[in-house]
Order: sequence, then C-alpha cells, then structure tokens
Amino acid sequence: MNDLSLIEQQEIDQMVLLWLNEVRKKTIAAMQQQLNVYTKNDQRDLVTNVDRENERFLTDKIRHYDTSAHIISEEGFGDRQLTMAGNMWFVDPIDGTMNFVKQQSDFAIMIALYRENKPVLAWILDVVNNIVYHGGPAIGVFANQLKLAPPNNESLSEGIVLLSGARLLYGMFGYDRIAKEALGYRVIGAAGPSFIRVILGQAVGYSSKMMPWDFAAGRILAESLGLLVSDIDGKPLDMLSSNIVLVATDRAHRDILTLHKS
Ligand code: IPD
Ligand code: CA
Ligand code: CA
Repeated sequence: MNDLSLIEQQEIDQMVLLWLNEVRKKTIAAMQQQLNVYTKNDQRDLVTNVDRENERFLTDKIRHYDTSAHIISEEGFGDRQLTMAGNMWFVDPIDGTMNFVKQQSDFAIMIALYRENKPVLAWILDVVNNIVYHGGPAIGVFANQLKLAPPNNESLSEGIVLLSGARLLYGMFGYDRIAKEALGYRVIGAAGPSFIRVILGQAVGYSSKMMPWDFAAGRILAESLGLLVSDIDGKPLDMLSSNIVLVATDRAHRDILTLHKS
C-alpha cells in the first residue's frame, strides 16, 4: 500500500516542482554557454556537463529531503539497487541528450517516486516550453496547473505511433509491421517527450528499449490516465532493468501486441 496521505503527496509534488523550477533555470542558463559534450558507450550515447550537474543537484535535494531515499539515476550519483523496497526515486537529469545538444528541443528532465514498488508521483519537465507534466494515481495528472483528462481510446490504425529509430530501421520487435499498420509513425528520439505525446493523446502508442530512469516517470503518468504500460510481450515492467517498453491506449496496445507476435 502507498500509505502517504493525499496532503503529503501534494506537498511532495509542490516541493519537487520548486526543485524543477530551479534546475530548469540552471539548464537554460547553461544552454547559453558552450556545452561540454562527451560520449559514453558509443558515438550516439552522449552526456554533457548539464546532465551531470542536474543529476548532482537533484540527487542532493532528494537525499536532503528523504534520508531513507534509494535513487536510481543515469549518470552515477544514485545507488546500486537490487530491490524496490522503501522509497525509490528515479532521476533522468536530461532525457534525450542528443536532442538537447543538436536541436535544443524535445528533451526533458524526469523524476519518479515509487514506494514499496507502487507508483506514487512523477514529473516530466519540458524545459523549453516550461511545462511540467506531473501527478500520480492518487492526485491525478497535470500539465502545470491544468488537470489532464484521459486520452481517447484510439486504435493503432487511427493514430500516430512513436518508435525507437534504430530498432525500426532494423525491423526489430515487429516495429516495421507496427509502423505500416499505424496511420502515421514518428521517431522523436527521447523517452520523456514521447510519453508526453501519448499522455496528451497526440500519439496512440510508443515503444522503445529503455532503462528504468527512461520509463519510471512516464509509466506513472500514463497509467494514472488509464493508458496501458507493459513490456512488448504484454508483461509487467521490471523496474530494475532495461525493458522493451510499450505504452499505448487500450486498443492500440492490443493491436501492437498482436503485430509484435505475428
Ligand atoms: C535516451 C532517449 C532515447 C532512448 C535511449 C535513451 P538519454 O535517453 O530517451 O529515446 O532510445 O535508450 O537512453 O540517454 O538521452 O537520457
Ligand atoms: Ca539522460
Ligand atoms: Ca533517458
């Protein structure tokens, strides 16, 4: 059970919104300067000084506020985590680093809180447009102060599907069949901005291979709006490892699972 009262959850939500406001200002200021860009596993896997500074800032805030916090984050300031017991915070300090570096758009800062493996609260900050998508199963989902309604339950052939470009290119996981069946398909190149489009009903589904910090926040917001989130075989996500994640409307979820298996 998530035993935090509604008021406690609203207080945490407001506090994290203040952190995000601060980290947004730092990020915008850093974008006016020369970024230091480094590669990690390969030439497409980028990290910048802003990714690292943001993660240090946010993990410091979390640890100061919640002394029992466990943190899973991308750039090394988190903990090594083997279970989902207790308060688990997920941090992606810049999601879509290549978009951040090359486009200065379609990137996000993401935080999620799970308690005893149950979704509690999530935040996806669209830095450039200054919109935070935030909330959870108890308090509802908001774009800044505006409460969001569940998106229409459209099928795959009625809407746009978002897919990982690399896997679409090589026809993995049935992505080629899924793209053909959809009304349209797009590659956004970042998990948070893709989740936002599905949450807003601009896309009927999104699938990509993701790490926990890529999908932890999007999962909470999507499920809180009645969308389905699973792996590409329809099974529950493993919150502690990478998954081929699928978020979709009920109807598109069914369509995509069928095409994946065929
Ligand atoms: C990446 C993006 C991308 C996904 C990669 C992620 P990052 O996040 O979300 O869409 O395909 O797997 O790593 O590394 O830019 O935070
Ligand atoms: Ca990242
Ligand atoms: Ca990411």
